[in-house]
Amino acid sequence: MKNFSENIKYIGVDDRDLDLFEGQYVVPEGMAYNSYVIVDEKIVVTDTVDAHKVNEWLANLDAALAGRKPDYLVIHHLEPDHAGGIADFVAKYPEATLVASAKAFALLPQFMALPESVKKQTVKEGDTLSLGAHTLQFIGAPMVHWPEVLFSYEQSEKVLFSADAFGKFGVYDADPDDWACEARRYYFNIVGKYGNQVQAVLKKAAALDIKTICPLHGPVLTENLVYYIDKYNTWSSYAPEDKGVLVAYASIYGGTKKAAELLGEKLKAAGVEKVVVSDLARSDMAEVIEDAFRYDRMVVAAPTYDAGLFPVMEDFLNHLKAKNYSNRKVGVVENGTWAPMAAKKMTEILSSLKNVTLAETVVTVKSTLGAESEAAMDKLVQELV
Ligand code: FEO
Repeated sequence: MKNFSENIKYIGVDDRDLDLFEGQYVVPEGMAYNSYVIVDEKIVVTDTVDAHKVNEWLANLDAALAGRKPDYLVIHHLEPDHAGGIADFVAKYPEATLVASAKAFALLPQFMALPESVKKQTVKEGDTLSLGAHTLQFIGAPMVHWPEVLFSYEQSEKVLFSADAFGKFGVYDADPDDWACEARRYYFNIVGKYGNQVQAVLKKAAALDIKTICPLHGPVLTENLVYYIDKYNTWSSYAPEDKGVLVAYASIYGGTKKAAELLGEKLKAAGVEKVVVSDLARSDMAEVIEDAFRYDRMVVAAPTYDAGLFPVMEDFLNHLKAKNYSNRKVGVVENGTWAPMAAKKMTEILSSLKNVTLAETVVTVKSTLGAESEAAMDKLVQELV
């Protein structure tokens, strides 16, 4: 709900023109860059937007100010999807003070040149900024998702400004009834590596009485906050969210695909709660990564290629490693026509992950499924149910 408060106004913008968020993630439902204004004796603007939406944001800001001038711009996060309007803001409101962490001020010149005269106020964990009836209390949130990140908590209305946390892909009103789908894809692909840091800030947030969460992407959260906080707690602790098996496969001529699909059918027949079979070459990789973290078990199935591992599977496993995939049980299916190598390569990567238990049965398909490989598959199913 954008308009949850008389004195805290939403001035963010929707971006439906973006082809890839962060230069890599498809966003079929666009993206929202959120920004807010707290109107009191002093006026605070929180964050800006991506550079190509700055004019729309400035118009929203102008309307929210109703003829007044802002006193502060709080920079919770310096990443360009939120910092694209800082220079324009300073040019338009040279009397306003920028408020940010020391790290943000250190990194800021790498992105833009601001006039020497710009006023800056460095804040850290526990500092407050009094606006009149409203008071912002700053909370350090390093590596959620960059090192300079701050959250802030507005004490009188009990509002948490949570930077990227609790954000999602999609314009502001996208998927109003299914927040978790695009929030989960966003979390694991963008913030997933930093689960420990998210856990640390959730512990700080638990000490606050929070009525509203204002993230930098996605909707303002005003109801049932326990649901969102529980999801973040599960995700950031690398605990599986649901029981089920992701079968992630890659296939050259269809032999591995057929094996993966048959395995999926056998898992379902054996009573696995949820089975998702995904072709890595044709799926959105970010979505498959999301499913890998969502479920408690996974099977990876791939052919041997150039005496190594088929590239899209190698890419997938390296993504999982980068995001600290852990605490799951994983089975391996390989294919090879004359010298199968894929299982060895997949096992090497999987063995380096924390608390990932490998199924003892490795299925080796020689070009196409045969009696021997199908019998091995049945053993693997037994290990996974
Ligand atoms: Fe939405 Fe880390 O930027």
